Amino acid sequence: MELRTRRARTDDLDGVMSVLESALPPNLRGDATDYRIRIEKLGENFIVGELDGEVVGYVSSMIMPDRPTVDELEMLFDSEGVESAADFHQGGNYDGATKCFYLGVIAVKEGRRNNGYGTALLEETKRLARSKSFDRIHLITTKEKEPYFMKRGATAIDDSFTPYFGVPHRWYEMRV
Ligand SMILES: CC(C)(COP(=O)(O)OP(=O)(O)OC[C@H]1O[C@@H](n2cnc3c(N)ncnc32)[C@H](O)[C@@H]1OP(=O)(O)O)[C@@H](O)C(=O)NCCC(=O)NCCS
Repeated sequence: MELRTRRARTDDLDGVMSVLESALPPNLRGDATDYRIRIEKLGENFIVGELDGEVVGYVSSMIMPDRPTVDELEMLFDSEGVESAADFHQGGNYDGATKCFYLGVIAVKEGRRNNGYGTALLEETKRLARSKSFDRIHLITTKEKEPYFMKRGATAIDDSFTPYFGVPHRWYEMRV
C-alpha cells in the first residue's frame, strides 16, 4: 500500500505517540504535551505518513538558526535530552555557526518497517528542504543507524562520535 505523506495535525497526536512508543526508548521521547506543541510549532516541518488513515511514521525537521536556543532545540528534542544549547555543539565539526536545515527525528512503527516508508518520509523532507532553497540537510545519528543514512546519500562531517542524549552520535549532511 502506498504511504500518504502530509503535514501533521494535532488530531494525529495519538498516532504519533504510538509510532514513538515503538520507535524510541522512553528516555529519548517526550510526552504527548511536548508533541502537541511540536506539531503546532513545527508546522509543515512535522510530516506524518499514513496508510488507510493510520499514522505509521513521522519525520520532524526545522530550519536550525545559528546558535539555537534551548527553546528551539526543544522543538525537536526532549528537554531532558538537551541540557544546554551549547552541549548540542560540543565536539563536532559542525559547530552550529551556520544555519542549516536539520532533520530531527524520523520514525516508522515497528511492524511497518522495511516497506520503504522511512525512505518516503526522508524524500519528503528533502523536497521540503529544496523548497526552502537548501541544498543539503543536516542530521545526527548513531553508529548503528549510520548505514541507513549513508545508503541514502549522507556523509559524515564529524571525525568521531560525541555523546548526545547519552549516546554517541555524529553529524552528517545529505545533499537534497
Ligand atoms: C530508521 C527507520 C525510520 C527506517 O524506517 P523504514 O520504514 O524501515 O525504512 P525503509 O523501509 O525505507 O528502509 C529499510 C529497509 O527496508 C528495505 N526496503 C525498503 N523498501 C522496501 C520495499 N518497498 N519492499 C521491501 N523492502 C524494502 C530495504 O532493505 C531497507 O534497507 P536498506 O537500508 O538496506 O536499504 C526505522 O527503522 C525506525 O523507525 N527506527 C527507529 C527510530 C530511529 O532509529 N530513527 C533514526 C534515528 S532518528
